[in-house]
Amino acid sequence: MSNYLIGVSGGIACYKTLTLCRLLMKAGHDVRVVMTENACKFVTPLAFETITRNRAYVGEFDAGLDPATIEHIDLAGWADEFVIAPATANTIAKIAHGIADNLLTSTILPYKKRLLIAPAMNVDMYANPITQENLKKVEAMGHMIIDPGTGEMACDAEGKGRMAEPEDIFQILTAEMPLKGVKVLVTAGPTAEPIDPVRYITNRSSGKMGAAIARKASEMGAEVKLIAGPVSINLNGLNVTSVTTAEEMLNAVRENLADTDMLIMAAAVADYKPAQYSEKKIKKNNEEMNVPLTRNPDILKTISAEKLEKQVFVGFAAESNDVKENALAKLQSKKLDLIVANDISRGDIGFESDENEVSLYFADGTNLESGKMHKSEVAKLIINRAFDIFRGK
Ligand code: CTP
Repeated sequence: MSNYLIGVSGGIACYKTLTLCRLLMKAGHDVRVVMTENACKFVTPLAFETITRNRAYVGEFDAGLDPATIEHIDLAGWADEFVIAPATANTIAKIAHGIADNLLTSTILPYKKRLLIAPAMNVDMYANPITQENLKKVEAMGHMIIDPGTGEMACDAEGKGRMAEPEDIFQILTAEMPLKGVKVLVTAGPTAEPIDPVRYITNRSSGKMGAAIARKASEMGAEVKLIAGPVSINLNGLNVTSVTTAEEMLNAVRENLADTDMLIMAAAVADYKPAQYSEKKIKKNNEEMNVPLTRNPDILKTISAEKLEKQVFVGFAAESNDVKENALAKLQSKKLDLIVANDISRGDIGFESDENEVSLYFADGTNLESGKMHKSEVAKLIINRAFDIFRGK
């Protein structure tokens, strides 16, 4: 059973948080509540105290507090999970900027783990670029935003901003961690092979698919390491080893291989590198310029010789034609358990896009079409299937 600290800021959605507390109590957890002064205008501390059977904390200097404890520090240390529900635009802005001007925000600052934040506000307040920027900032700090719902609001407006339903928040909080104890190694992004100090050759890859896999595996309880080539996406909250070249990626994969249950190679590794690196910047002397290239190691092929019986290897195949044939050939030659193929001739999916549509080909000859879905959903599908194989080994 866990210690749940619920931070309640001032919005009409406060009444839904009573249900969240009730659900957590019924599941046998210990629940404590910290409220802002404004939250107390919507729902009284007594309502939360009656449900949680614990004091609802409001003021930093309230009478009756135990002098032996320093509330904001002790509460932050006590909590296994800290949920801010509802999180108003104001409280989100304070989290984004480290402001600690009430007991709730003062408790957030010393809390070392990931917060779960359930925003609730009017549709225009939510859509305001400042709120959006603050949400991005908070997410980049490694916190999790529980997406608000769309629908009718207390202010009669329609749109996005309603706090997620308490049952949904409860589910996210208490979701099973099927991958607990499983070690997942993911590669993402391109590799870059330098020609001289300012030029390099590389592959097109944003790293979004690999990062989505790493995040999803981590949400599902896995111990995740991400080896990332040069990417400009946000990798906050992930355990990342950054590399540049294919050779460096190979070394990083090798170093971690013995301690890996599932390897998911989503990186777009450059197959060739300049035969010679020029220490000096190459000057443009001639009309033509030739850069001799030499083969890079094939990471999957190289390490397949060291593959343990119990390990699951997943590869990707980005193909512009003959998708199935090419993917199946790679599945075999790289000794994979599963290959994820996508058709890069389609502009609406893959590369920088947030969506993808893939075909999964398994070593046992079966296959599966994902249909078009968000990269995080594709990530979940891949992880679930890879885990099925792992369990069956
Ligand atoms: N891969 C790898 N090492 C390389 C190239 C690719 O480990 N040097 C991995 C990729 O991470 C991916 C899979 O192999 O999981 C297939 O990559 P892809 O670039 O589609 O295939 P290649 O084997 O490079 O074949 P080709 O470029 O000829 O299509």
